[in-house]
Amino acid sequence: MIPVCVPLLNGKELEYLQECITTNWISSRGRYVEQFERKFSEYCNCKFGITTTNGTSSIHLALTSIGLKKDDEVIVPAFTMIGSVFPITYCGAKPVLVDSDPETWTINVNQIEEKISEKTKAIMPVHIYGHPCDMDPILKIARNNDLYVIEDAAEAHGAEYKGKKTGGIGDIGCFSFYANKIITCGEGGMMVTNDEEIAKHALSLKDLSFESGKGRVYLHSEVGYNYRLTNLQAAVGLAQFERINELIEMRRKNALLYKELLKGSRGLSFPVEKEWAKNVYWMFSILVENQFQLNRDELMDELAKKGIETRPFFIPMHKQPVFRNMNLFRGEKYPVAEALSEKGLYLPSSSGLKKGDITYVCESLLPFG
Ligand SMILES: Cc1ncc(COP(=O)(O)O)c(C=O)c1O
Repeated sequence: MIPVCVPLLNGKELEYLQECITTNWISSRGRYVEQFERKFSEYCNCKFGITTTNGTSSIHLALTSIGLKKDDEVIVPAFTMIGSVFPITYCGAKPVLVDSDPETWTINVNQIEEKISEKTKAIMPVHIYGHPCDMDPILKIARNNDLYVIEDAAEAHGAEYKGKKTGGIGDIGCFSFYANKIITCGEGGMMVTNDEEIAKHALSLKDLSFESGKGRVYLHSEVGYNYRLTNLQAAVGLAQFERINELIEMRRKNALLYKELLKGSRGLSFPVEKEWAKNVYWMFSILVENQFQLNRDELMDELAKKGIETRPFFIPMHKQPVFRNMNLFRGEKYPVAEALSEKGLYLPSSSGLKKGDITYVCESLLPFG
């Protein structure tokens, strides 16, 4: 079986982990947490990096550190992974959806303004599948309406918008380091920011709102969370970070090879890279159009028979039973998000894929195209 995505852990992961064990630094204090936060945030051109337990908690931390509260609204694309949206509901706030751009599959910047109300507090662009959102119009809308921009860069480590790294463009950037991400620490997350006040607040919130700078004084003036990443996880994260550029180049090279080998097929669409973008191709995604001989699900079945693992695209937020049960998004339609969700799948996308694996996947696909 060619798996859809596995990590590549052949740098200094084991050496750093061993050091954690032999020195006893296994909790959330330790030099790897510090170094991972410092180096990754510098990479994103941010002054502060705050690790968390996963990408979802990094988004929740970002939202709580800007003071998001009950009945506030956050604008978010309908087409995303649910980890972008659940944290909005944890705050008692309301996600407000926007459809996607049919070319980049990211939030449609022309449809954001009409969704702004007096309750809107933030816009959350999601750099989906490794392609950045068109950030300039988003930043302009945010500035004109006094809104925060919280980038969900869970899938877009090292992706660039006009030469700037995603995550470091808005007020806060949030990352996931789950095992299928470009760099991983098993489970983990980080929020990055240049705003000192936000960073201070986030540092306290993620650590049960212990009052910072006072040592362990058991006084807490607001509800906090335990979102602390361990030194063990950060050790893996740092070792992965040391190879981030190499891992990104592998992903990009794989994507180019897929595109090259599949270019003669009829009825498949591929991820784009806009002239202002560096796409890191977190997952090599394709759309199975009507001219293709099989529909998306049939193609996934055929590939599975040949030992090739794939995944369907996310199901849009307005189609999620959990939100319907909360009386959200009833009657709303997002045609681009719906079409993406029906037609999209991702092919094996591990950084360490061999050329022969990609050739085999393409040869298995081409007879139907
Ligand atoms: C766009 C997006 N946002 C948020 C998340 C949540 O990250 P995690 O699974 O680390 O909680 C993911 C996870 O894959 C994601 O793809």
